[in-house]
Amino acid sequence: MARLDVTETFKGITFPGHLHTQESLLYATKFNFQDTDILIVTFPKSGTTWMQEIVTLVSCKGDPVKSQTQPNWVRAPWIEQYYCPDVLKASQGPRVLTTHLPYKLLAPALQGSKAKVIYVARNPKDVIVSYYFFHKMANFLNDPGPFSEFLSSFLDGTVHYGSWFDHVKGWTGNSRNIENFLYITYEEMWEDLRGSLEKVSRFLQCPLLEQELISVQKTCSFNTMSENNMVNYTLVPQEIMDHSKGRFMRKGEIGDWVNTFSKEQSHNFDVVFASKMADSLLTFVWEA
Ligand code: A3P
Repeated sequence: MARLDVTETFKGITFPGHLHTQESLLYATKFNFQDTDILIVTFPKSGTTWMQEIVTLVSCKGDPVKSQTQPNWVRAPWIEQYYCPDVLKASQGPRVLTTHLPYKLLAPALQGSKAKVIYVARNPKDVIVSYYFFHKMANFLNDPGPFSEFLSSFLDGTVHYGSWFDHVKGWTGNSRNIENFLYITYEEMWEDLRGSLEKVSRFLQCPLLEQELISVQKTCSFNTMSENNMVNYTLVPQEIMDHSKGRFMRKGEIGDWVNTFSKEQSHNFDVVFASKMADSLLTFVWEA
């Protein structure tokens, strides 16, 4: 199967070539959801890996073995990436799935499904900065060039996976069409991890005893995850992700964007944000 090249699009959106093919994207849009599925949905760099770890741990009642022995892309594969059918064929039990696809591409497949959908959003200034540095260490992505250029592409919606604005508005604005939907933010998880874990455990109907909750909280902390090679992407060969250029588990903070955005860029961003989000009730936490 031919991998997508850099300029090739699917439904008007570009995707990282080494993981996607036209066939894999088509497979995702026609995905056969089961009512027992858990689907984690994010725009890239919004806390995907964190939620994959949380869902794994909550489902295992805090037992860290799966987290420590199975890479996140095996225990919670992205349905749009080409290896997904093989991973699912080899897996057993209820499925945890991940996607970065916008709502409009998955709406037909999700129609009538009782799958549990967890949407994680993050303040977009931190998303942009995290995505920018990810492009620098991920050799399978084009060099992002100066930050100002990357910021323009992000605002234009021409980065991989398309427009952040369409993504969050598409999923949250259509949540009433999804039978089981949980919206949570990176910032909420950061500011109140325990409360967030309780929320996820209630949503998944996986009650946790106090000791189990404590175990989940410890294993999904930034420090533990940074050291866990099943989630920190150090298992990926250097020619694909070069950790000498930057770590996947980079900073894990709220408000780190101030170290990269100039005052003018921040102001211009705020103007675009206000206009594009005028029809949305979502609010974000921009600093810790
Ligand atoms: P930074 O680059 O700002 O550090 P994704 O998994 O969607 O690609 O998102 C990656 C971002 O989530 C990175 O942000 C990473 O450090 C952060 N992250 C991952 N696990 C985390 C955790 N346990 N606590 C806080 N941030 C975490």
